[in-house]
Amino acid sequence: MAKKYRIGVVGFGRMGRGFVAAMLANPVWDVAAICDVDPLSRAEAKLIVPAARITDDPEAIFTDKSLEVVGLFTLADSRPAMIRRAIVEKKHVIAEKPIAADIKTEWELVKEIEASDRLVAVNLFNRNAWYHKEIQQYIADGAIGELGIIRVCHMTPGHLPTEGHEPEGPPFHDCGMHYVDVARWYARSEYKTWHAQGIRMWNYKDPWWLQCHGTFDNGVVFDITQGFVYGHLAKDKTHNCYVDCIGTKGIARMRHNFKDATIEVHGIDATLTKTAAFNDKKLDVMVDLFARSLVAGKNIGFPTVRDSAVASQVSWAMLDNAVKNAPPSVGNLGELEQILEHRKYLRNGYGLPLRHTDQTIAAIGQRGQAQACGEDLCQPATLRKLGDACA
Ligand SMILES: NC(=O)c1ccc[n+]([C@@H]2O[C@H](COP(=O)([O-])OP(=O)(O)OC[C@H]3O[C@@H](n4cnc5c(N)ncnc54)[C@H](O)[C@@H]3O)[C@@H](O)[C@H]2O)c1
Repeated sequence: MAKKYRIGVVGFGRMGRGFVAAMLANPVWDVAAICDVDPLSRAEAKLIVPAARITDDPEAIFTDKSLEVVGLFTLADSRPAMIRRAIVEKKHVIAEKPIAADIKTEWELVKEIEASDRLVAVNLFNRNAWYHKEIQQYIADGAIGELGIIRVCHMTPGHLPTEGHEPEGPPFHDCGMHYVDVARWYARSEYKTWHAQGIRMWNYKDPWWLQCHGTFDNGVVFDITQGFVYGHLAKDKTHNCYVDCIGTKGIARMRHNFKDATIEVHGIDATLTKTAAFNDKKLDVMVDLFARSLVAGKNIGFPTVRDSAVASQVSWAMLDNAVKNAPPSVGNLGELEQILEHRKYLRNGYGLPLRHTDQTIAAIGQRGQAQACGEDLCQPATLRKLGDACA
């Protein structure tokens, strides 16, 4: 792949930095420009990619004729206008999910994107995971008979109210849409019925944990559990994340600990276990797949805007159903305050908001407390790629 693709990135927060790290590690990409409205993020961009043009104006990215691709990594409410500007300016797009903050706009965008000749990928990162692809291959090969039941669980002490991501909604939409997408991908069918139960943890207004079960058109049944409620004040933090597929003859499942993922197939002819790197958001896979799609002139397997819109629409609907089902409350807002205070000083955790570094703060002459963000995107391997700029 001799050609280099020049990309302009809009939004240099947690995901923007992760994507830039993945592109800096892949010789096909030239990160030529970075835009962020936050001066500290721009200062960090300058430190990490000194050759890139740094700007606070997204228009400077969209009107730059030398850029073939844009990466849109701001929050959901600003994404629709940016996707539209990119398409008008004939740029291909890698976008974060969801593509808009409301369902109507998401479906309008799907129509506009599908009618255009531009490639637009959405970071439904699970679809780039080796473990899901391998399990699905075993199922397709008949290892567990006919798939009947899909159980998905993702519980961590993650993102909390007031920590950002407000336009993406409560966790069952913000994060849960990934798992709504995973269950639908495994079922290879559309959602038909569901019933959701939530709980208003710490007496917060929105359910921060939710479990939904129901059926797909093809008769497969599912349950999805998602919550950022899993032991926020535990001395040693943990999590519980798995996919469990139950067939008429066998089972196939995976679980991960954010470092490694393990698949176990208890199939008709064989029992298999495999453990390999979890690789968090798999952004290396996404940027490689997108580059190869550009070469091919068509999508050769990246996650689509349509899949994102379905997952977003269904997860909003499940969340609405949970709200209609009168989620009880437990605890009090004082506990939430206590957790938020605790997270301010956490350097390692799940879904901690991005924080700026000493180096950046010094670079622009401000005072402040520097902290690593604690996400895997800011963990040692990524930091090495970024030249320790995020340490
Ligand atoms: N696919 C995934 O697994 C995954 C995981 C986390 C977040 N996300 C999504 O990624 C997006 C970004 O999340 P994040 O955690 O990186 O957020 P973040 O707050 O860390 O980063 C967003 C950045 O965008 C900048 N910004 C906001 N508006 C802007 C504008 N108009 N122009 C230029 N810059 C602007 C902010 O200053 C900030 O630096 C969200 O939509 C979120 O839902 C996806």
